[in-house]
Amino acid sequence: MSTPTSEPPATDPRSLGSAGPDPQDVTAGRHAADAGSRRPAHTAVFGERRVGDEELLRVQDLAVDFPTDDGVVKAVRGVSYALHSGEVLGIVGESGSGKSVSSMAVMGLLPRNANISGTITFRGDDLLSMSAAARRSLRGRKIAMIFQDPMTALNPVHTIGSQLAEAVLSHELMPRRAATARAEEALAMVGIPQPRARLKNYPHEFSGGMRQRAIIAMAIINSPDVIIADEPTTALDVTVQTQILETLVEVKDQVGAAIVLITHDLGVVAGVAHRVLVMYAGKAVEMGSTDETYYRARMPYTAGLLGSIPAHDEVVGTRLRPIVGSPPSLIELPTGCSFSPRCPLATERCHSEEPALAGTDDPGHLAACHHWDQLAAVDDPSSFFRTESERAR
Ligand SMILES: Nc1ncnc2c1ncn2[C@@H]1O[C@H](COP(=O)(O)OP(=O)(O)O)[C@@H](O)[C@H]1O
Ligand code: SF4
Ligand SMILES: [Mg+2]
Repeated sequence: MSTPTSEPPATDPRSLGSAGPDPQDVTAGRHAADAGSRRPAHTAVFGERRVGDEELLRVQDLAVDFPTDDGVVKAVRGVSYALHSGEVLGIVGESGSGKSVSSMAVMGLLPRNANISGTITFRGDDLLSMSAAARRSLRGRKIAMIFQDPMTALNPVHTIGSQLAEAVLSHELMPRRAATARAEEALAMVGIPQPRARLKNYPHEFSGGMRQRAIIAMAIINSPDVIIADEPTTALDVTVQTQILETLVEVKDQVGAAIVLITHDLGVVAGVAHRVLVMYAGKAVEMGSTDETYYRARMPYTAGLLGSIPAHDEVVGTRLRPIVGSPPSLIELPTGCSFSPRCPLATERCHSEEPALAGTDDPGHLAACHHWDQLAAVDDPSSFFRTESERAR
């Protein structure tokens, strides 16, 4: 079954408005950036690029530990960000870097053994001190989540229509017929053809892309303020991924939501996110506007990630150089910078002193690196991850 595609005109990513120069402001980084050279090849820029001034979500110094038989897993070690109306914030990092745990903390869906510290506020209300009932009421209605695997989010024994209607009825009293009408409307919004007929289908009668559209319909059906999308397209092929992301951005504008888009794939957020937060070993290691972060990375880990995906002017498959080594154990972290065992720029200081997330040469562009100025001194920061002969090419 094919799904409709439309290619909205690419908008100028530089029209993001301006943010204050305070490098410690977690909202900073929404400022203009000149185009550079490393937008990944398979991404287009689409959707509205406007960001409002209203702060919806603020995560401050979030830390999450899990006590286990092997020791304490420090899954999230101090993450701060703010999300504004209309904004798409990308959270990127390798598998195991704490992306899902930090978003589950926002949703209030962490297991009981999790130790959480820091603050999470939604429209100024402290989520961590709220009653379980109050959080349940926000979940799905004001803050919705899209999970990676549609089959875990959809119940195989109920029709798509009844699941969507239930999502409405669990938060609002109304006749089932009205809820079903909302379900049909939501399916139409996410680009499912013949939505009325499709309401009667079971999840297995939908293709992978259609199921993910149904999940997006479920997320937007109550017009939430915030959508947290955790790897929403990872299981899909690249063409379908792009269509689904396009749909997500379109519907978020229709319902007036902001999005936290979590992915291990920098290519996924490139055309969609206003700002990017890069996570490594449970910490935010770089944050800035998408263009600043992609074109002028100031943290070697980000530069290494960018060096491992093809850029526009490169043939797919060339110059791909994954970062050597693997992320550290979150039970026994290395001393100093947690990226130091893999970093081509590491010095003695890096092995003993952990760098704080701090301002760089661009206002609002933060990096946790003692030597960000070395990246600022070169045209292509990912070149540190290439061999001499590759650099010469
Ligand atoms: N319930 C748990 N108990 C112990 N460790 C956990 C638990 N949930 C997640 N972790 C660990 O926390 C780390 C971060 O996980 P996660 O946030 O899922 O990473 P990702 O960035 O891939 O989404 C991983 O090392 C994971 O094994
Ligand atoms: S602090 Fe040192 S080890 Fe860490 S990313 Fe920067 S240069 Fe590399
Ligand atoms: Mg995850």
